[in-house]
Amino acid sequence: MATSRNIKVLFDAETIAKRNASLVQEIKARNLENLLVVAVLKGSFVFAADLLRAMHQAGMAPEVEFVHLSSYRESTVSSGTVNILHDVESDVRGRNILLVDDILESGRTLAFAKDLLAARGAKQVLSCVLLDKPGKSAVNIKADFIGFECPDVFVVGYGMDVAHSYRQLPFVGVVE
Ligand code: IMP
Ligand code: MG
Repeated sequence: MATSRNIKVLFDAETIAKRNASLVQEIKARNLENLLVVAVLKGSFVFAADLLRAMHQAGMAPEVEFVHLSSYRESTVSSGTVNILHDVESDVRGRNILLVDDILESGRTLAFAKDLLAARGAKQVLSCVLLDKPGKSAVNIKADFIGFECPDVFVVGYGMDVAHSYRQLPFVGVVE
């Protein structure tokens, strides 16, 4: 059973919480007026929830929306195509948007979301990812705010899964 496997901790809960607070300072310093945070489901749900509460702590009051994109399915290898399973409901025209995602690997998911919102007339679409896997990008995109550089391993926890397991872990780890 998947849950009996050992998980090696890569970024523990305390390290992530500290980094979230400093990420929020970086974001706040940009003075993004009328900010709309768009969390990219599902993998970002824990990170987005913590980041948003850190934003509140820092005196920010963004609006929040969700987009559910899927490229991975049940496999650990990206399929290369991105599907919209749930779309943003707000009119994004003229808005400052901050996309929040768990991990930037090929960059296809984030590039897709960015292009989509830009095409709808967003004023500016910035992105914040918890993890960046350098050297894996298939499209030309860089996140504006990055929590941590991630080694080239498949990570789970803190919202991230393998076949829907391990999302509940309060840390980012590697399945051994
Ligand atoms: P990209 O489109 O290749 O950049 O992939 C980004 C998405 O793939 C992330 O939002 C994750 O949902 C998923 N993903 C990529 N690498 C990992 C990993 O190591 N663990 C879990 N999910 C991953
Ligand atoms: Mg994802």
